[in-house]
This record gives sequence, C-alpha cells and structure tokens, in this order.
Amino acid sequence: METMHPDVEEILFSQEEIASMVKRLGAQISEDYKGKDLVLIAVLRGAVVFMGDLMRAIDNPLAIDFMAVSSYGDGAKSSGVVRIIKDLDIDIKGRDVLIVEDILDSGLTLKYLMKNLSSRKPASLEVCTFLWKDVEGKQAAVNPKYVGTHCPDAFVVGYGLDFAEHYRNLPYVGVLKPEVYA
Ligand code: IMP
Ligand code: MG
Repeated sequence: METMHPDVEEILFSQEEIASMVKRLGAQISEDYKGKDLVLIAVLRGAVVFMGDLMRAIDNPLAIDFMAVSSYGDGAKSSGVVRIIKDLDIDIKGRDVLIVEDILDSGLTLKYLMKNLSSRKPASLEVCTFLWKDVEGKQAAVNPKYVGTHCPDAFVVGYGLDFAEHYRNLPYVGVLKPEVYA
C-alpha cells in the first residue's frame, strides 16, 4: 500500500492494479495488431504516463506521436471547446492508429480528435482509454475499443491526471478531498 498524498481522500486504483490493467491491455493490443503498422497517439498531457507504460507492454513494432488539444481549462468542468494546440509530426495515412487517452468522460475531446484524424485516411482508427467514466445515464460521444477500467463520476487525479496541473506524478489514481476545490 503506497502512502497517500494529504489532498487525496481515497485511492481508487493502486499502482499494482494499474500495472495489471496495463499488462492486460498490452497483451490484447499486441494480439490484435499483429502484422499491422501500429501508431500510438497520446493526447497530452494527461496520457503520457499511461502511454509510457502501455507502449512497453506491447510486443509489436510501433511508432508513437503526440497531440495536444484543449477541452478543459484549469477547472473540473468541460468547456465543450476543443482546439489543437500541437499537431502530429508523422503522417498516419494508411496506418493503424490507436489513440491513447487518460480518461474518457463526455468524449467530446475524442470525438473531435477522431473526426480530425479520420480525414487523414488512416487504415484504422481506435481508442484505448485508461479510465472510462461510464456511469448510469451518461453517454460518451465515442466508443473506446480498449478500456483499462471503469471509473466513478468523481474528479480523479494521479497517473497522469491533474487538477490545475497538480498530482500528475502520483503513482495511483485517487479522489481529491472536497476542500481542495474550495
Ligand atoms: P471529455 O471531453 O469530457 O471526455 O474530457 C476528457 C478530458 O478531460 C480528459 O482527457 C482529461 O484531461 C479531463 N478530465 C475529465 N475528467 C477528469 C478527471 O476526473 N480528472 C482529471 N481530468 C479529467
Ligand atoms: Mg486529457
């Protein structure tokens, strides 16, 4: 059991649990993309930690690239506004693209991203999200092919996920104490 950050109320997913999720996803992706021209695209900045672990859990040759989009400000609510801050450096035409995301909530960010990337004519385009806030009555705008785990509808931090750019380096995923928002 890792020591908890004082701002964290509860640990949802421990380092060990995350490692086994990543191992399972990596094995599945290795199998599904055998012989394909796999490109992993991580969405900055939240997905970098997951990307770093996931790429090492995949046996196949692959390329990586990064995109930065803005959908949230420094707060906890979606603005619904998405814009590209950093575009890809590589050409994805005819390649098998897997978008690597930290967390899927409304899916508005990914919906926009997928529309944009599909116009570049990849051979395939799928989503691998570490967490999915797949709660009752909430419909995400995209359907991920790979999911690390489902997540309650709380604001979570750690393993790449931030609140106002803090807590990304926590090795586990936790729920913030309410007073941290105040
Ligand atoms: P969506 O467009 O509503 O799916 O928002 C997805 C993005 O919002 C994620 O990539 C995160 O950057 C951010 N986000 C959503 N929920 C959380 C959370 O609980 N903690 C930290 N970031 C979050
Ligand atoms: Mg993100």
